[in-house]
Amino acid sequence: MIEEVSSEGDSRLGRREFLLGGGLLLLPGSLTRQSAAAPPSLRTWEGVRAQFALAAGHPNFAAWLLASHPLPVRQAIERHRQGLDADAKRYLDENEGPLEEAVRDAAARYLHVQPDDVALTDSTTMGLGLVYGGLRLRPGDELLTSEHDFYATHEALRLRAQRSGAVVKKIRLFRSPDQATVDGILSAIRSALTPRTRVLALTWVHSATGMKLPVREIARLVVEINANRSPNDRVLFCLDSVHGLVVENVSLQELGCDVFVAGCHKWLFGPRGTGIVWASPAAWSRIDATIPTFDGASYGAWLRGEVPPATPPGPRMTPGGFHSFEHRWALAEAFQFHVAVGKERVERRTHALASRLKQGVAGRRNVAVVTPMSQELSAGIVCLRPGNRAPREVVELLWSRHGIVASVTPYATAYLRLGPSIVNSPAEVDRAVAAIAELA
Ligand SMILES: Cc1ncc(COP(=O)(O)O)c(C=O)c1O
Repeated sequence: MIEEVSSEGDSRLGRREFLLGGGLLLLPGSLTRQSAAAPPSLRTWEGVRAQFALAAGHPNFAAWLLASHPLPVRQAIERHRQGLDADAKRYLDENEGPLEEAVRDAAARYLHVQPDDVALTDSTTMGLGLVYGGLRLRPGDELLTSEHDFYATHEALRLRAQRSGAVVKKIRLFRSPDQATVDGILSAIRSALTPRTRVLALTWVHSATGMKLPVREIARLVVEINANRSPNDRVLFCLDSVHGLVVENVSLQELGCDVFVAGCHKWLFGPRGTGIVWASPAAWSRIDATIPTFDGASYGAWLRGEVPPATPPGPRMTPGGFHSFEHRWALAEAFQFHVAVGKERVERRTHALASRLKQGVAGRRNVAVVTPMSQELSAGIVCLRPGNRAPREVVELLWSRHGIVASVTPYATAYLRLGPSIVNSPAEVDRAVAAIAELA
């Protein structure tokens, strides 16, 4: 189904969201010259795209890599940078606590969770390392993952197993994405779970193929398996969510995983070097911090020679030390930007563009669509298998002949990969389809 992409406008964006979008751009103090002009309207997709400083004339299908920042995020970064450059001591004294809280609040409001359960990180990889590295495990405990997961999950589990005597098990959830079914995935997981399984470590949207897992159904299966287990023996369902965040408009209660790890510098278009981890209180209670927090309560206890009090898990699990704060604090604006554009509208748009791309190339003799066509099993990532050329060669030709930014999947089996997102137009997708048809 291709909807909403024939028109660049969207009358479904309400006046409140429109005003909120404009309101976001009114910043106090040191406004840049760019922001003094009327900000592009979020009412149309053209206006949304105009918020980004991407190179003109080069359709950029790399939302899964490292984000370009929309105007309010760039402005917030600049504002904090100016404050820190002018007087880091005073800027930190006056702002550090409230700004970090504002980021946690914005993330929590976006995901419909409690701010105290949100930890701030620098990336998905850091979040996975903190979670898998900090889990309380005993020798012989099993960490179940799949063959389809990314390096960061596999490596974080391997490192943890090495130190704890836990065992990593990798299963195949489907033969190929085009043959994947929800029942098949559930039965593969069900038969691999044992009484020793403590963690189910999966990825919401696979960057290897664009396959989206049926997370709600998997979560229900985990609840069923856990029903007769004591709290410490329960399976924790942990999800690398980086390619699902924002593309899928869900609340975390609905999604049902126990631990949600995501970088915020991909589809969210947040500041580069930012990420979050959310876990349910029960899941947090089984994860120890690895890096000391700079939370005031812990620091104060140290000054008094006391054991740190029981601080909320979000602050406790947020690595301390000084950070690139201008980026971390501008994360609040990234979440607010998506609320202003409209969460459901972003989901619809991303799916519609990805479907348009898949449908455009489907049926051509020289290229196979690897990512499922069904929106139930796919999100924004589109992987293709060119018939006549290596994926890398197609990526190079897409750039040199057509100025189109695409990539090769960084996995043992390489595919051509594009990630249409809110920075793209239907015309750009059509241009990519025509170029791929010519080159593949
Ligand atoms: C599934 C998946 N997880 C994690 C990452 C790494 O993300 P980050 O840069 O936020 O660590 C990637 C790719 O960059 C990925 O494809």
